[in-house]
Amino acid sequence: WAVHAPYVAAINKLKAEKNAVILAHNYMTPEIYHGVADVVGDSLQLAIAATKVEADIIVQCGVHFMAETSKILNPEKTVLIPDMAAGCSLAESITAEGVAEMRARYPGAPVVSYVNTTAEVKAASDICCTSSNAAQIVAALPEDTIIMTPDQFLAQNVANLVPEKKVVWWAGSCIVHEQYTANDLREYRALHPDTRIIAHPECTPEVIAEADFSGSTSGIVKYVTDEQPKEAMLVTECSMASNIADNLPGVDFVGPCNMCPYMKKITLEKILWSLHTGREEVIVAPEVAGKARRAVERMIDMSR
Ligand code: 13P
Ligand code: SF4
Repeated sequence: WAVHAPYVAAINKLKAEKNAVILAHNYMTPEIYHGVADVVGDSLQLAIAATKVEADIIVQCGVHFMAETSKILNPEKTVLIPDMAAGCSLAESITAEGVAEMRARYPGAPVVSYVNTTAEVKAASDICCTSSNAAQIVAALPEDTIIMTPDQFLAQNVANLVPEKKVVWWAGSCIVHEQYTANDLREYRALHPDTRIIAHPECTPEVIAEADFSGSTSGIVKYVTDEQPKEAMLVTECSMASNIADNLPGVDFVGPCNMCPYMKKITLEKILWSLHTGREEVIVAPEVAGKARRAVERMIDMSR
């Protein structure tokens, strides 16, 4: 913490001077999560928080699609991301043309796009979803066939939860979660039979079937906090366990984890630079933002 303290102090001072707020995803490193964030959460919680911001400037500590979502919901505010290169393998896997291709293949089926998409893809979709509300949204739509983009594994996991629907999907995946295999989990459980295995729904259905619980990043925090198992393996990004470990001294976080190289582009140094210089500003063309806002707001309304 000693190395982080000067940055934390400088960021919090500048944040107050500039009337800025920091929205941080659960995958941020502990010094960001505990030191400078005003709001922490999963993608749905951050999108909802963005609708309530009163500050003039939002500094999004997360990846680019999250900053775009904040901008879509706050067209009149300045939204900054400390590193424009903080992308996402899912968001990069599909364009608006891909959505049109899916619509041509499944005429009449609504398109539910994960928030891990660009503003253009959201604008081309009927509604968005996150990992915490995807099954609820798919179940509530009146059509029998539902197109889900771009995460094939989230779609397959939703299809298992909502068997009355025919869910079809785009073949994108998350480079962090696709690496886990069901066999890894079985081997781990054989060695540590008491470990509670908790997996994010971007993992394959085979991995989810081996897990004791699956949920969004905040769903995972809630589960571990409520259950307080003696040993927990979080089958997700590494910062998740680091961020909650101090508050849960009775839980031993075990097993391997994977790092998201995009999320890890956001550092205290870059946050300070961002607040100082007013860069990098996230811009979304108004006609795209208007259509994308409809899809995001429809999701927020259906999640209440
Ligand atoms: P959550 O909505 O569960 O926070 O997921 C976001 C994400 O990018 C996970 O990889
Ligand atoms: Fe995208 Fe996966 Fe990183 Fe989340 S963890 S931002 S889904 S690449």
